[in-house]
Amino acid sequence: MKIARLHTLFGLCFVIVGLAVGVYMGASGNHTQQVTHAHILLIGFVLSLLYASIYRLWIPEGPSKLALAQLVLHHLGAVGLGVALFMLFGQIATEASLGPLLGIASNAVLLAAVLMLVIFLRSAKAG
Ligand code: HEM
Ligand code: HEM
Repeated sequence: MKIARLHTLFGLCFVIVGLAVGVYMGASGNHTQQVTHAHILLIGFVLSLLYASIYRLWIPEGPSKLALAQLVLHHLGAVGLGVALFMLFGQIATEASLGPLLGIASNAVLLAAVLMLVIFLRSAKAG
């Protein structure tokens, strides 16, 4: 499957989870997972769909290890961050114990954004 489609597919999975957390918060009146909800939707759904759009608009798709690395880093980072934030705000684990996961996941999301910029610049130079 093409990279843009994979970003879209995973993004659409994140939107279901993120909206479910929003619906739960709305129904229960318990908004403690607001930050988790916001980041699952904004990083997992919105950013993934933006990456898919960037691919569709500007990046001619051939097999690219860099694009695959960007995809894997972004989505593993988004899942890691979502799980860590859920455990943090749900008081399932302490901030100290979640520190490594939060750090690795955040940096994976950040690195994926840097890779997206590199991939975009390369394609702009080539085309
Ligand atoms: C079924 C749809 C949704 C429901 C029921 C819902 C519910 C909620 C609730 C209850 C809060 C907490 C509000 C507060 O305590 O101040 C919240 C916050 C938030 N939601 Fe949603 N939400 C939905 C969809 C979305 C979508 C689609 C996005 C973004 C793509 C989004 C982004 C946010 C953000 C960024 C915040 C934090 C706002 C702030 O910083 O004050 N939500 N949502
Ligand atoms: C490496 C990725 C990211 C990290 C580590 C991160 C971290 C944080 C932190 C620490 C906060 C404050 C939470 C609090 O009030 O307790 C925050 C809030 C927020 N961030 Fe991020 N963020 C990231 C990416 C993003 C992205 C990509 C977006 C939007 C596209 C975004 C949108 C927001 C919004 C709207 C809030 C306010 C949410 C609220 O009040 O619930 N973040 N973020």
